[in-house]
Amino acid sequence: MTDKGWDLKLDRIELEKKVQQLHQTLNQYGHAYYVLDKPDVPDSVYDSMMQELLAIEAQYPDLILPDSPTQRVGGEVLSGFGKVVHDYPMLSLSNAFNNEDLREFDRRAREAVGEQLSYICELKIDGLAISLRYKEGKFVQGSTRGDGKVGEDITSNLKTIRTIPLVLKENTTIEVRGEAYMPKKSFLALNLGRDESGEEPFANPRNAAAGSLRQLDPKIAASRNLAIFIYGVGGDGSLYGQDSHSDSLDHLRTLGFETNEERQRCATIEEVIDYVTTWTEKRSSLAYEIDGIVIKVDRYEDQEQLGYTAKSPKWAIAYKFPAEEVMTTLVDIELSVGRTGVVTPTAILEPVRVAGSTVGRASLHNEDLIKEKDIRIGDTVTIRKAGDIIPEVIGPVVEQRIGIEVPFSMPTNCPVCDSELIRIEGEVALRCVNPQCPAQMKEALIHFVSRNAMNIEGLGERVVDQLYTAGLVHDVADLYTLTEEQLLALERMGKKSVANLLNGIELSKENSLEKLLFGLGIRHVGEKAASILAEEFETLSALMDANLERLLTIHEIGEKVADSIITYFSNEDVVNVLTKLESYGLNLSYKGLRRQDTPTNGPFVGKTVVLTGKLTVLNRNDAKSEIEALGGKVSGSVSKKTDLVIAGEEAGSKLAKAEELGIEIWDEEMLINALKEKE
Ligand code: IVH
Repeated sequence: MTDKGWDLKLDRIELEKKVQQLHQTLNQYGHAYYVLDKPDVPDSVYDSMMQELLAIEAQYPDLILPDSPTQRVGGEVLSGFGKVVHDYPMLSLSNAFNNEDLREFDRRAREAVGEQLSYICELKIDGLAISLRYKEGKFVQGSTRGDGKVGEDITSNLKTIRTIPLVLKENTTIEVRGEAYMPKKSFLALNLGRDESGEEPFANPRNAAAGSLRQLDPKIAASRNLAIFIYGVGGDGSLYGQDSHSDSLDHLRTLGFETNEERQRCATIEEVIDYVTTWTEKRSSLAYEIDGIVIKVDRYEDQEQLGYTAKSPKWAIAYKFPAEEVMTTLVDIELSVGRTGVVTPTAILEPVRVAGSTVGRASLHNEDLIKEKDIRIGDTVTIRKAGDIIPEVIGPVVEQRIGIEVPFSMPTNCPVCDSELIRIEGEVALRCVNPQCPAQMKEALIHFVSRNAMNIEGLGERVVDQLYTAGLVHDVADLYTLTEEQLLALERMGKKSVANLLNGIELSKENSLEKLLFGLGIRHVGEKAASILAEEFETLSALMDANLERLLTIHEIGEKVADSIITYFSNEDVVNVLTKLESYGLNLSYKGLRRQDTPTNGPFVGKTVVLTGKLTVLNRNDAKSEIEALGGKVSGSVSKKTDLVIAGEEAGSKLAKAEELGIEIWDEEMLINALKEKE
């Protein structure tokens, strides 16, 4: 008994060490990946370490420390935001709108400080100002700017941002400030999804970032792919031994923060103006939105001499880019029906050049937005690109109206199938709910064959349209009845493309279940949910048999998704299509690693295996999956329960422990031979 007590104690100490080690390594990998953009290891290695840490934490919740890398994906829902009093007020900047304003700023500064003055120019990131507090190197609190004196505590949401280090490279106590933002690409994807699900789109990445960080449920922020650039410290860098802002930024980077690397030191205001001109032209090439340039006096001594007004420092100024807005005519409003039946109005514009490209269409999102802005057909409208990419109608130029403009109303019936449109409670969008609506059916087919779904090559939008119009395909099952003869009769379809297409269709029959589940386009079931469901249920029929309760036992499946799955499979038409798919020979099961695939004999069946040390031939993750595929369980720590230890090069304490416990030990070569034998 005493023996066991010792053992448990040892295990616990080891476990704590292990957790510490995992924190350190994951933070280092995370920093390399998210901040330096230079991953140290393949994603799979990072993922499997994260899984290991999650597994330990699930078993020993007291080992979940607030700075654990797992805590980035917020679990708890905040009950409201606490208030944070800023140690130093978060000021704003005075603005410059042209070169003359900049020269005037320079004149005043030089008058006060002298000719030795130099500047540092930074991009003005268009997001929201954030303050982050670190105590002895650990992230303890993050807040919004609020009114400058008191902000909101959004620590849990900020923890979901990968570029915010939870632990610094030094044990410093420091408050840093920066701009949280949403990259343009993420903004685009987010709004596309919101359009499709009938939610109000965000007007720009800044609103999207702010909206995400002010959510009470940190999971929302976690799903939004936000980032942050740190641009300074509370007080100033002299508190930490630096002489200038540029030195302070370098220091912040060495601490583990992401600073923006496009900054530049300028000795004269003409150099500043060159920098401003360059970025005015280049701004659309950036992955994030900027709305200007911030110019700061570099040396703290000079800053101090210049001082502050009540609202802003006199040692800095923000040059604001003129928003590129142009006028054009709104020729018409076109309606389109998406896969989920949402009817989206699109502005058809007299083509015009804006921010680097010609724009002829812009989504108007929904009727409320058109009414709110009072946009009428025939109006002269101003347009711009939101996030520098998405064309957006800002509003009508009312003074230009001549009386022939026509107010717009959404029709009461679907523009394609004429069935009545429904406004679902809580949504701004109007939906056609007729499952037979040709527009929806076509979109559903396009989705079904798309790359991330059934991935049928040779079946693009054009061919789907032809097949549908020719009456050859009504639902996804019909694709599997197509013959060479039918396809050859279509316009622009030669023998070769027909053969390719038929081959693509045939190959798709072998897809694993998750591809089909995603392809069916069940509402709220995206790629990730489809994979989770396929892995969990393994066959389509098991999923179809599952009730709400069973679905809700799956961690990642929430009520909305579960409800939607139940509704989907209770539809008779759906069941008919699925029965047809089965009769055409489609694979309806999960092809990943399955319990029932696990072999019943072989060197790893039922064994707990520990991999330690460096593997030189095999990738550690591959080795792990191979062992698991052969029925073994791979564990992170050596204990009496371990059956086999695979020791690579430089194996240390785990190997020693295995020897002590008399556990079987293999080297990498023995593992390779065992794996080969099974092939
Ligand atoms: S310095 C004393 N640097 O622009 C003010 N601000 O009013 C210190 N911003 O809301 C601000 N990028 O959040 C600074 N590189 C940058 C910035 C930046 C964006 C934001 C900041 C503030 C506003 C200035």
